[in-house]
Amino acid sequence: MSIDEPWPQEGRERMIQPAPVGIVGTGQPNTEMELLAKLDADHVMMMGDNPALPRFPERPTLMDFFRLRFQGITERHLLVSAVRALDDGQDEKVVVACLLHDISNGCLIRSDHGYWSAQMVAPYVSEEIAWAVKYHQPLRYFADEANGYSYPESYHAFFGPDYVPPEYIRRDAEEARNHRWYMTSRLVTIYDTYFFDDGPTPDPEILTDIIGRHFKQPEQGLGFDGSPTAHMWRTMIWPNNFL
Ligand SMILES: [Fe+2]
Ligand SMILES: [Fe+2]
Repeated sequence: MSIDEPWPQEGRERMIQPAPVGIVGTGQPNTEMELLAKLDADHVMMMGDNPALPRFPERPTLMDFFRLRFQGITERHLLVSAVRALDDGQDEKVVVACLLHDISNGCLIRSDHGYWSAQMVAPYVSEEIAWAVKYHQPLRYFADEANGYSYPESYHAFFGPDYVPPEYIRRDAEEARNHRWYMTSRLVTIYDTYFFDDGPTPDPEILTDIIGRHFKQPEQGLGFDGSPTAHMWRTMIWPNNFL
């Protein structure tokens, strides 16, 4: 992979089969049979860089994923959360947990996003930061007025006022409440709000030093360092690969 290399599978139509997790249950047709029937010398299933997406540098960094892949809302939401924590003088680990808390929503998967996000970043951050990212998901459903956290208005709008979180969410929230890192994760939920997401998108530059201190950027680049979660980062680089 290099910026100057020609696009792969040149001269042929590169067909994209969307990921099952993105279409199942939505009513969108599954096109797999149709696409497979079209395979011939001029039609292949897409593998490698998609010209419709910006190309990554050889050794991708965390910020490359923010710039080149994340959906606008997630990019903005993560930067706003982190900068609000920073402006409030929170510990750097809280700032970084805020910056990463919804990272799987950027370009990978939404369902159980806290758990996915924590797993993705775990090889590169402290255990406490990954823990805070994971548990922000269950903790979001439970108010802690004494520490300044109410049940989010947005959740009433998202899920309906009668929504009841499932058993595993209740169990994990309870476990988190009794943990010594509870407040690290609770602070993530406190800075995790869309109501402050107006105004300009913060410049990620102001977080460069903090990221440098708390996110162990692998030398070979995210996706290529052989970590247990390298494949998740590669999937975001090549989200349209057939296999
Ligand atoms: Fe979240
Ligand atoms: Fe969030």
